[in-house]
Amino acid sequence: MAGVGMVAAGAGVLCWRWGLTAVSFGFHSGLSAVLARRSDGVPRWLPACRQKASISFLSRPDLPKLAYKKLKGKSPGIIFIPGYISNMNGTKALAIEEFCKSLGHAYIRFDYSGVGNSDGNLQECTVGRWRQDVLSIIDELAEGPQILVGSSLGGWLMLHAAIARPQKVVALIGVAAAVDGLVTKFNQLPIEVKKEIEMKGVWSMPSKYSKDGVYHIQYSFIKEAEHHCLLHSPIPVNCPLRLLHGMEDDVVPWYTSIQVADRVVSTDVDVILRKHSDHRMKEKADIQLLVYSIDDLIDKLSTVVN
Ligand SMILES: *[C@@H]1O[C@H](CO)[C@@H](O)[C@H](O)[C@H]1NC(C)=O
Repeated sequence: MAGVGMVAAGAGVLCWRWGLTAVSFGFHSGLSAVLARRSDGVPRWLPACRQKASISFLSRPDLPKLAYKKLKGKSPGIIFIPGYISNMNGTKALAIEEFCKSLGHAYIRFDYSGVGNSDGNLQECTVGRWRQDVLSIIDELAEGPQILVGSSLGGWLMLHAAIARPQKVVALIGVAAAVDGLVTKFNQLPIEVKKEIEMKGVWSMPSKYSKDGVYHIQYSFIKEAEHHCLLHSPIPVNCPLRLLHGMEDDVVPWYTSIQVADRVVSTDVDVILRKHSDHRMKEKADIQLLVYSIDDLIDKLSTVVN
C-alpha cells in the first residue's frame, strides 16, 4: 500500500492524505522523517482540506492580469510553473499545494497570460511573454528564496527564471522539462513540411493531450521561441537541479533532461528517469517522487543555511 492516498472532496478538488504508513516510503528517508515528525495522530492540515478559497489577481502595468493562488508559509517558498496551456489546477499543482500546506511552506501557483483565469489573448502569447509572467510572479508575489517546480514548458521557463533571478531562485525541479521543446520538434520536421508551415503561418501539431487532437501553433510563436533556446551553450544556472522524466514520454524525449544536466554549470544535478511514466508524470508514484524531491531539496537547503 502506498503512503499517500488521494480523496476527492467537493467538485473537482483533490485533497491529499498522507497515510501514517511512512515506512512504505522505505529508502525515501527524507520524506519518512517528515511523515514521522507528523505522525502524532491525524495530520494537522486535514481539516483544511475543503473547497479552496477563490483565486487572486496580480495587476501589472501594460501587461495582462495574472490569476494566482498563494499560500503563506515558511521559506523557501515553492512556485509551480505549469506546462503549455495548462492551468494552475492540474494534479501536480494541487498535490504540491497539499504538501506545502502540510509542511507549512509558502506556495504559489498561477495561470499564464491567455490561459485559465488570467487576462490576455492566447494567440498573442509567446515564450518570452510567459517568461515575463514567471518573473512577475517571482518579483511581485514571492518573498525570500524560492524552489521552482517547472512542468514541461514550465521546465524551460524555470531555467530562464533561475538565470534572471539567481539570488532568489535557490533550487529547481523539472518534470518532463521541455527545454527548447517546440523549437526542437519543429526543426526535426522534414524541410518541405517546415516550408508549408511557414507559408500557412500555422503549425497543426498532433497531440493526444489536446481536446481536438491537435494544437494550432503560430509559426511566429516558433520563431519567437527560438530566441529563448538554451541547449546550444552552457546554461548559467548554479543552484541544485532535479530533473524527473518518464522514459515513455512521447512529447518531450527523456534525453532532453540529460542534455539539460549536461549544459547547466551547476554541479548539483540529478536526473531521475522513470521507465514507465509518460509526459504527464501524474501517476501516484510520479507524484510521490516529485514531492519527495521537493522535500529533499528543502532539507538540503536548510542544512546549507544552518
Ligand atoms: C482553478 O480552481 C479555482 C478554485 O480553486 C477556480 O476558481 C478556477 O476557476 C480554476 N481555474 C481553472 C482554469 O479552471
